[in-house]
Amino acid sequence: MFNKRTKIKQLLQSEQTGHEVTVMGWVRTFRNNQFIALNDGSTNNNVQVVVELGLLDDATLKRITTGASLKVNGIVVASVGKGQSIEVKAKSLEILGDSDAEKYPLQPKKHSLEFLRHIAHLRFRTNTFGSVFRIRHSLAFAVHQFFNDKGFVYLHTPIITASDAEGAGEMFQVTTLPIDGSAPKYPDGSINYNEDFFGKPTNLTVSGQLEGELGAMAFSEIYTFGPTFRAENSNTTRHLAEFWMIEPEMAFYDIEDNMNLAEEFIKYLIQYAMDHNRDDIEFLSQRLAEEEKQLPQDKRSELGLIEKLEFVLNNAFERITYTDAINILLESNHYKKKKFTYDIKWGIDLQSEHERYLVEKHFKKPVIVTGYPAAIKAFYMRMNDDGKTVAAMDILAPGIGEIVGGSQREERLDKLEARMKDMHIPAEEMSWYLDTRRFGTVPHAGFGLGFERMVQFVTGMTNIRDVIAFARTPKNCEF
Ligand code: 4AD
Ligand code: MG
Repeated sequence: MFNKRTKIKQLLQSEQTGHEVTVMGWVRTFRNNQFIALNDGSTNNNVQVVVELGLLDDATLKRITTGASLKVNGIVVASVGKGQSIEVKAKSLEILGDSDAEKYPLQPKKHSLEFLRHIAHLRFRTNTFGSVFRIRHSLAFAVHQFFNDKGFVYLHTPIITASDAEGAGEMFQVTTLPIDGSAPKYPDGSINYNEDFFGKPTNLTVSGQLEGELGAMAFSEIYTFGPTFRAENSNTTRHLAEFWMIEPEMAFYDIEDNMNLAEEFIKYLIQYAMDHNRDDIEFLSQRLAEEEKQLPQDKRSELGLIEKLEFVLNNAFERITYTDAINILLESNHYKKKKFTYDIKWGIDLQSEHERYLVEKHFKKPVIVTGYPAAIKAFYMRMNDDGKTVAAMDILAPGIGEIVGGSQREERLDKLEARMKDMHIPAEEMSWYLDTRRFGTVPHAGFGLGFERMVQFVTGMTNIRDVIAFARTPKNCEF
């Protein structure tokens, strides 16, 4: 059998000595023709492999270069060197794959995140991305743990859909018709989608919510966790064209139950990472502190990453209405000194500068904003008694802005139909959705957590492109 190896994380944790092990991994550094720092991705900590003089011929020694892959068999011994308690004294060493030192882009030195984005196929091998992607994995696992423990059913909603769940029209079209102008057309020149693969226009999903609601009307509580796609032309540090979203949907929940669940969920995810990825969070915390040293004092975070996470865990999220938020903004010195770029008045969609002011300057903690004007929110949100606002809730997080968007849903058929008509949403095509309101409708609510924004929050990474393996953004689809 080839793969009888000990993972480096496990080896370093056990601290036992005297036994024989096989380790495999990639060379990070090789010093004095004697000391190899070997890493297998199970942890950022390398195991030191000691090659005694005379064990290997010169030709083999030359092939031990940064990035080369090795299989090492040896004895675990106590280390006299600094920084590790054990090391592996090699008995035999096999080079599994060479790595040309002249050409290997990852040299053992600090590379910028920008540079690493261009070599995203290799960046997993750095400490920063090792930590980020182990944490991303843990958080994904924790999502399932959280909902499974509560008895929610994991529903796989479709990736290809024929509806625009958010009504925002930012969709990628899916078609097998030719795009060179030769697609079948009606006499008036419009495309005849009867001839298309699905017999109608289709797109990549922007949200699994509408299908999620169908599930909640039978299982009471469901969640989805899958990729979603938005063709919004936003080149920001918080937007991707392909991102992962977690969308729980619960029957017999009102807006307050919804807020409570979302807050509990976010705290659970943070706690899970703190308990299971302590080393990686500590590493990233130090990395962030180093990075922030380059910034002017007023741009630095008041809290380190770990302190920030602990603070969020130990404090209730602030809960305010949209109307409160507008008033706070209007009364701020920031506004009076004309420091906001976008105008503020009741009815506007909060811009990210407004959201950041509220969470970073005013409250200094996550804030849940409810009761947005109906006009700026999706058709499915429940109308409040004032007839102007809807039972929407957005959660805003420091350094991130909107991390969750959700609402209580409009369960009253007549009100929903009227709203859809106002917004020119074709009711005939949405008949399946309206059926849930026709047959045993119940108060229900749900929300969507942007998974990458959550990973950003826990890792402290400032650019969303650095928390997804291969980012899809406008004019960029590498790998
Ligand atoms: O606020 P959004 O658009 O809400 C929905 O899609 C609802 N259907 C959710 C629901 O109620 N079931 O998106 C939800 C979250 C946002 O708060 C944000 O965290 C994330 O998804 N998100 C994005 N993340 C990365 N890139 C983008 N382009 C994103 N757009 C939204
Ligand atoms: Mg939103």
